[in-house]
Amino acid sequence: MKKRRILKPDGRYLILYEFGEPEPPAPVGSGATLAYNRPELTSTHRSNAMRTPIIAGNWKMYKTVEESVALVKAMRPALEAIGGIEKVVCPPFLSLPHVAEALRGSTIGVGAQDMFWKDEGAYTGEVSPLMLKPFCRYVILGHSERRQYFGETDETVNLKVKAALAHGLIPIVCVGENLAQNEAGQTQEVVEAQVRGALAGLTAEEAAGIVIAYEPVWAIGTGKPATGEGANATIKTAVRGTVARLFGESVADRVRVQYGGSVKPGNIAEFMSQPDIDGALVGGASLKAEDFVAIVRLSAEAKGLRR
Ligand code: PGA
Repeated sequence: MKKRRILKPDGRYLILYEFGEPEPPAPVGSGATLAYNRPELTSTHRSNAMRTPIIAGNWKMYKTVEESVALVKAMRPALEAIGGIEKVVCPPFLSLPHVAEALRGSTIGVGAQDMFWKDEGAYTGEVSPLMLKPFCRYVILGHSERRQYFGETDETVNLKVKAALAHGLIPIVCVGENLAQNEAGQTQEVVEAQVRGALAGLTAEEAAGIVIAYEPVWAIGTGKPATGEGANATIKTAVRGTVARLFGESVADRVRVQYGGSVKPGNIAEFMSQPDIDGALVGGASLKAEDFVAIVRLSAEAKGLRR
């Protein structure tokens, strides 16, 4: 609550009390602060106790404005009842202001699925960070569908990551090898190159505040997820290992890494019980309120966050 004094024409003061909005989701890099307030963490989770788990729903090109609002309204009460975990929904651009309004005062964050790196200009069809900022706290960047169908490269992803950070948006940067690369044994080098490309030129502090989603392309939308152990191994060596080589061990310990690709309520615990996996980027299953809520609830349980 804030107190404001206003001088009235008669020379006396009028005291105004302002009741603020409920606390917004954690700011960039504040995972540590939050973790210190989590006495419920068990000793088995000390290794990643600094990292607040984060589950994000990537709605892709699904849901009209009306459907988007109905979906978040259906999820809101159940999601808000689950503590200790960052929850994010990423609807299509047109739905963003409406979803943000429907979630006003909530701890559920809103993210965009892409953005351009310039503030404004003659770039027909693009959406800028300035336009997203009033409604979003996060932005997914470099999703494999954008790389595959819309010509995104490590260079354009890097420009977008820098622009997002400059505007205080938290980038959720997607990396991951395709089937041919996986079968050719190139996973490590492909993912390492994508991480290096996306994070080029960032400061250590900036790198520590981003979220990286490891999404093997062959697991996306196929119903064939990676195994928990397999995903953890790639995240440990190719994602966190690369961040450590670029920015040092302490940044690698702080950066949050999600797994993505055919995540469902039935397999989320397998991923979230891995030490290097801090969350999930969920596509198809984020479009059903009960599935997304179940994924968040089971994630909290797997990380030992439920009473
Ligand atoms: P999926 O998509 O969960 O439907 O496999 C994941 C993603 O593309 O982020």
